[in-house]
Amino acid sequence: MRLKENYTRYIGTAFILTLAVLVLFQVYIFREPARIAGVEAQDKSIAVNAGQELFKKNCTLCHGDTGEGDIGPALNDMTFLKNTADDTIFSVISSGIPGTQMPAWNQSHGGPLTDQNVTQLVAFIRAWQDTAPDRSAQPLKGDPNAGQLIFANICFVCHGDNGTGGDRAPAISDAQHLNQFDNAWYQDAIKKGRPSKGMPTWGTVLSPQQIADLLALVDTWRQSPPTPAVTPTITPTPTITSTAEQTSTVEVARPSNPGGPGPALTLTGDVKAGAQVFVADCQKCHGDQGVGNVANPGSTDGTIPPLNPIDSTLIDADPKVYATNLDLFIEHGSTPEGPNPKEKMPAWGDQKKLAPQQIADVIAYVMSLNPAPAITPTVEVARPSNPGGPGTAIALTGSVTAGAQIFTDSCQKCHGDQGVGNVANPGSADGTIPPLNPIDSTLIDVDPKVYATNLDLFLEHGSTPEGPNPKETMPAWGDTQKLTPQQIADVIAYVMSLNKP
Ligand code: HEC
Ligand code: HEC
Ligand code: HEC
Ligand code: HEC
Repeated sequence: MRLKENYTRYIGTAFILTLAVLVLFQVYIFREPARIAGVEAQDKSIAVNAGQELFKKNCTLCHGDTGEGDIGPALNDMTFLKNTADDTIFSVISSGIPGTQMPAWNQSHGGPLTDQNVTQLVAFIRAWQDTAPDRSAQPLKGDPNAGQLIFANICFVCHGDNGTGGDRAPAISDAQHLNQFDNAWYQDAIKKGRPSKGMPTWGTVLSPQQIADLLALVDTWRQSPPTPAVTPTITPTPTITSTAEQTSTVEVARPSNPGGPGPALTLTGDVKAGAQVFVADCQKCHGDQGVGNVANPGSTDGTIPPLNPIDSTLIDADPKVYATNLDLFIEHGSTPEGPNPKEKMPAWGDQKKLAPQQIADVIAYVMSLNPAPAITPTVEVARPSNPGGPGTAIALTGSVTAGAQIFTDSCQKCHGDQGVGNVANPGSADGTIPPLNPIDSTLIDVDPKVYATNLDLFLEHGSTPEGPNPKETMPAWGDTQKLTPQQIADVIAYVMSLNKP
């Protein structure tokens, strides 16, 4: 007879093992949140470190080594960080600020960086928040030359050259003002403005640094008061031109080295052969298929320009002009702006590194990457139903950041979040209010001045859509003075940033 098997021992062991598993699982569950947080913190610190590298490479030149500000405003600043959401910082870095020196960085806007890169930059900038000084509490040192530039770009429109007075606003640099009022008064007058009397509120538009610069300009007026123009009939023109004045004329990019077009222009280029020349000679600096992303330490841009997309000012609907614009760079080479650019564009023609036929081929290839917009003279630009010319806003430089806020406050309810539309308009022919992102393509123009004017006409005078009985119409923001010229300029800059040409 078989012995009765005794399982008691096994049951006991199994019970203890089960208990052990349960206990371990509890401990695991207990520690899981801490583990997730640990991983997240690690991800974050990886992003912050990557962002730091990107910042060092691309941003310190303008925003200072520790974000303290230089040509560009301080980013390591409590007020800025407190008031600006990650999304906003992301979109400003991505799109840049048109009409200012702040370039577009995201590839989605023709820049060199990916979405991930920009997210890393945002993480790095955000990491300053705990320690950022409140720079608005410290008195800023103004630069009178910078103040002069701002004045010549913005204020002269109403106050005349050097503040000696104009048709639309009184003199502010005359002896009476300079003797009677101190800088605290000037600061207050500029910051708050007198919107009801036509003086805009600059405190929401200009940075504290820019206002400090204007006050430094007032100091130089005190030392030598400007004299009014002798012939008051001459309309004031800005005496100082600056890069911030981009909207007035589009200048085609030109190489730093002089010289005319080369013999390549008389030849017919072959795209396929050009692609090979490109891989052999251009790719290492301009990236695979010209998409860029190659750093150029010591240059103002921080990167070698991409050729895909290429600087839009080089593109021309006339293929001959387009080819010439490229040829000048390729023939003679160019040194980018900046204190000490590591890479320069070689003079392929002058140094006979490429034959004229090879230059013609690579030009054909680069042009094939960036087709010129077809000339379609029949396309009619959308125009508002209400008549009227452009307003004063188009003479001003808009701020995308300020414009985004105005958009949220005044436009979003009709044109949707970030302009994406989807808002019904019963009784109109379309049935919906037009989206502004993407915007009607006929409003877009490669010339920023034309582009801004196309938008301005709608903003100034408003428009009633076609249809039997449209419920919503576009208000006349300018004519009814619901927005100041500066606010219109800002919101135009914002809408333009959503729809690059
Ligand atoms: C060539 C100079 C230049 C470079 C390089 C540059 N910026 Fe700027 N940036 C500016 C200027 C100028 C402004 C302010 C524009 C204006 O007047 O509104 C600005 C504004 C900004 C703002 C908005 C600040 C605010 O107060 O609203 C952010 C954010 C910013 N830059 C981030 C960056 C980052 C990140 C980089 C590097 C990837 C960078 N910038 C590189 C010049 C530059
Ligand atoms: C759109 C036209 C316009 C622009 C642009 C403009 N101003 Fe004015 N400004 C005015 C008007 C109009 C007044 C007079 C307001 C009043 O009657 O109280 C004024 C008043 C002033 C005053 C106070 C003068 C006084 O005696 O009370 C100062 C200071 C001033 N502006 C500075 C500036 C500066 C600096 C800028 C550029 C950042 C500027 N303004 C841009 C229209 C303008
Ligand atoms: C050693 C690096 C280097 C090589 C190789 C190089 N480039 Fe460049 N290229 C540059 C730099 C740097 C600039 C910017 C020059 C400036 O800003 O003045 C530039 C500018 C240009 C521009 C003007 C673009 C603009 O946005 O202003 C064109 C077009 C161009 N290169 C085409 C070519 C072609 C075609 C080749 C190959 C035959 C080539 N490059 C090879 C460095 C290089
Ligand atoms: C009350 C609703 C409403 C508000 C608020 C509004 N819009 Fe409009 N907007 C419209 C309508 C409706 C149209 C179409 C007009 C037409 O077809 O003639 C329009 C047209 C436009 C156009 C021309 C687009 C096209 O495709 O023709 C632009 C640009 C524009 N709006 C910008 C703005 C901006 C910027 C703001 C904020 C300052 C704003 N709108 C606020 C209703 C509005």
